[in-house]
Amino acid sequence: MHSQRRSILGSFMGRRCRLSVLILAWGGLTAEVSAEVKVSDFGKTADGTPVEEFTLANSSGSIVKLISRGATLKEWHVPDKSGKMADVVFGFDDVAGYESPANGYFGCTAGRVANRIAGGKFSLDSKEYTLATNDGPNALHGGVQRSFDKVVWKGTPFESADGEGVVFTYTSPDGEEGYPGTLAAKVTYTLTDKNELRIDYEATTDQASPVNLTNHAYFNLSGAGSPTINNHELMLAADHYTPVDSTLIPTGEIAPVAGTPFDFRQFHAIGERVDQLGTGTGAGYDHNFVLNNQDGKLALAAKVRDPNSGRVLAVYTTEPGIQFYGGNFLTGAIAKGGKKYDYRSGFCLETQHFPDAVHQKNFPSVILRSGETYRHTCIYQITSD
Ligand code: GLA
Repeated sequence: MHSQRRSILGSFMGRRCRLSVLILAWGGLTAEVSAEVKVSDFGKTADGTPVEEFTLANSSGSIVKLISRGATLKEWHVPDKSGKMADVVFGFDDVAGYESPANGYFGCTAGRVANRIAGGKFSLDSKEYTLATNDGPNALHGGVQRSFDKVVWKGTPFESADGEGVVFTYTSPDGEEGYPGTLAAKVTYTLTDKNELRIDYEATTDQASPVNLTNHAYFNLSGAGSPTINNHELMLAADHYTPVDSTLIPTGEIAPVAGTPFDFRQFHAIGERVDQLGTGTGAGYDHNFVLNNQDGKLALAAKVRDPNSGRVLAVYTTEPGIQFYGGNFLTGAIAKGGKKYDYRSGFCLETQHFPDAVHQKNFPSVILRSGETYRHTCIYQITSD
């Protein structure tokens, strides 16, 4: 019996981590079996740092793979309405893929400050800080060399009453990528039996510094590599959004969505009005929405339905904003399993504070001070109708 269990769960078994318990109905018998977070080598970065891969599984048949480079979500296999599995997130098969220019932040943890900072400069407590500019005139997603998506985090697998997961930690030294203070960051992924992937963020600092962490998963609910997300239907719990200039920096206005292509208060196909925002590389949805729930408690932020597969993604967060990015910069990168990621074939729903908050007095502050703890929870749940 033991060896049979191992052969069924062989691909989930690992070399460390405590045991978790799965109840499997199998051959008319209900057997209590053990599964663990599987930990494997995922190769090395160009500078020789080893990268680990962690495989999580749950009783609903979902499998999630995470890697320690960028505390990244690499794979998420979930059933559709007929039980057929597909991997619904973007990623690469090796570290070289993640290090290549084809990687549009696929599945990573973005930080210290996800999204844009105008001009790559900000002042804090009367001191001016200069960041690398990597997105036209602006700083995007934490820097160029050692932003949170590029460094290798320490991953520790665990199992709890909620499911199994990995705690990733990284301490960013004072001055790294131009940001002040030593910042200790922790990102905990938990896969539950309800097909929720819960991401809990925490950070502390020894000096005031801006912090805005998010996950940059790209989803295609028909399976990553399917041609478009324009047929997916989106609902956003947002009466307002933050309009942007031509470099995607918010103007500071908190504008109503009513009467605009940004009105997703009821479900709309993503492609229905997207071309009203322009066509061609970069044009389309890439905006921060002001979530109706602003009290810091976990609340529904977004839902996406894919009529083809029947999969439904729900996003819950404690954050005040969500960046809805419709994959407008994708240009056909060849990635996991030889699949191609075409223009507008993946979407991101990045729970966050608003972009360029360091320059906008009326946006919720992203400044973390010594003695405070930054906390943010995001839950992605995938079910099928
Ligand atoms: C974010 C930005 C987009 C784009 C992607 C990465 O979501 O808002 O403009 O830069 O990252 O390609």
